[in-house]
Amino acid sequence: MKPLEVKNLKKYFIYKGKVIPAVDGISFEINPGEIFGLLGANGAGKSTVINILTGITTLDSGEVKILGKDITKHTEYVKSKTNVATAYSSLSSNLTVYQNLLVYARLFGIHNAKSRIYECLYDFEIAAIQDRKIDKLSSGEKARVNLAKAFLNNPILLLLDECTVGLDPDIADKIRTIIKKHQSKNDTGILFTSHYMPEVEYLCDRIAFMANGKIICIDSPERLIEKYSSNLISVRLHDDIDKLEAWLLKQNIPIFKKENRLIQFRAQASGTSVVRELFKANLLVEHFEIKKITLEDIFIKISRNEK
Ligand SMILES: Nc1ncnc2c1ncn2[C@@H]1O[C@H](COP(=O)(O)OP(=O)(O)OP(=O)(O)O)[C@@H](O)[C@H]1O
Ligand SMILES: [Mg+2]
Repeated sequence: MKPLEVKNLKKYFIYKGKVIPAVDGISFEINPGEIFGLLGANGAGKSTVINILTGITTLDSGEVKILGKDITKHTEYVKSKTNVATAYSSLSSNLTVYQNLLVYARLFGIHNAKSRIYECLYDFEIAAIQDRKIDKLSSGEKARVNLAKAFLNNPILLLLDECTVGLDPDIADKIRTIIKKHQSKNDTGILFTSHYMPEVEYLCDRIAFMANGKIICIDSPERLIEKYSSNLISVRLHDDIDKLEAWLLKQNIPIFKKENRLIQFRAQASGTSVVRELFKANLLVEHFEIKKITLEDIFIKISRNEK
């Protein structure tokens, strides 16, 4: 049974008389044990999808099934099998870390609540602060409590919306390891959003890129990189950079990025042959670099709606 199946999901907001197609007919599935990255620029619609899955927002149309059950009909079942951690804490600020986890453990009907809470406290390295109130914690500590809460009921579908924001690199790395460990142990399907591409590349089995409420493409990070692969060439000239821009335009080569006096463009040809062509065109090169395309480059490209 798939942890998540989404079919033609739509959610439109009306703001000041204008229609905002936050989620505009998207379909995707998450397999057991799969970490599925939902990526996209600010406002692309990612959190709206997560809010629909957690029941915070109602859907307009489409179908969402968690473990084969329609979320609009089997609310209680779905809630017991799902959990969520977002950058925006849902914890009670006047309760301690332990008390917060206990509240959730009861809500989820966890039998051996105390031992499960301690497991999570140790996993996320927050046992030492278990008696501190939430409003006395740093943002990184709060994020870890949020994650401990998210893993508490060993969910079959876990929704992680920018859950590593505010964590220092060391703890963020540990959290990624815990996520991987939990995923392989429990066959949990994870929907993961993040703006930190190396993390996405490390964690996600597949990625969907969203733009303006629609999914533009779904693939594994490796296949996306392969699909978009071509040399990403950065050039700075001794001369005016406009000359290079004009030359690229004449060759029908689109500019990937232009910053100060540096232009980036993609080319299938080898570095040597590009340098040769530039030399033939009397363009005096001051700096030349070839870079392997990263997920971050692909993100920028898709977000800017380039071809
Ligand atoms: N309650 C709401 N009322 C009106 N518009 C909303 C509401 N919630 C979200 N939106 C709009 O829907 C669109 C999608 O927002 P959403 O929060 O899902 O984006 P996101 O992909 O999570 O962005 P970010 O990366 O910034 O978190 C945006 O244009 C946003 O302004
Ligand atoms: Mg968001």
